[in-house]
Amino acid sequence: MIFEQLPAGGDRNFAYLLADASGREAALVDPAGNTEALLARVRDQRLDLLYVVNTHGHFDHSAGNAAVQAATGAKLVRFDPRARRTATEIGVRDGDELPLGRRTLRFLHTPGHSPDSLCILCGNKLLTGDTLFVGKVGGTGYGEDAREEYESLHRKLLVLPDEIEVYPGHDVGLTPSSTIGHERRTNPFLLRKTFAAFLELKRNWLEYKREHGIA
Ligand SMILES: [Fe+2]
Repeated sequence: MIFEQLPAGGDRNFAYLLADASGREAALVDPAGNTEALLARVRDQRLDLLYVVNTHGHFDHSAGNAAVQAATGAKLVRFDPRARRTATEIGVRDGDELPLGRRTLRFLHTPGHSPDSLCILCGNKLLTGDTLFVGKVGGTGYGEDAREEYESLHRKLLVLPDEIEVYPGHDVGLTPSSTIGHERRTNPFLLRKTFAAFLELKRNWLEYKREHGIA
């Protein structure tokens, strides 16, 4: 399998290139920033880009959609509660899968940071967008969106095995990637066992960071 974590401008955004090495079928997740550099990775490896996938619609994860689609003919894959399909788009819902050569992309709907947030599982790799970062979680307000994020983290992500590798949408942690097990054991937000405690940490995050020397 070809798997690349690529800088994508913005606030230390990551794009991801996944491909089945035998069939050359590829997916590019969250293109933004210097899309020419991302497209060069596709061309240089002679990949057949089937999908442009957005973990959510925020501009810093989707600004390159049109340029990449125009250059490759790839279909845009994003969350759609009605799972509509057109000539250029594939809407996906929780649990949907798409083939990528002999591999499979599985989509988990993880609302919270945004209503359309998706995480993408391919083999033992989980792309978490802005739902889960290394050592923290995606930004929300303090209302229903925070509760949705808490539920998404616990019901969709923490049910996965420890060895699943975590690849976030921004490089904001001590390391650019992690595992479900490491986050389960160390991520202060995931160590909060009730929504009230999770919310309290969100409210006091700046103070917590200062106290614990987190950048
Ligand atoms: Fe975002």
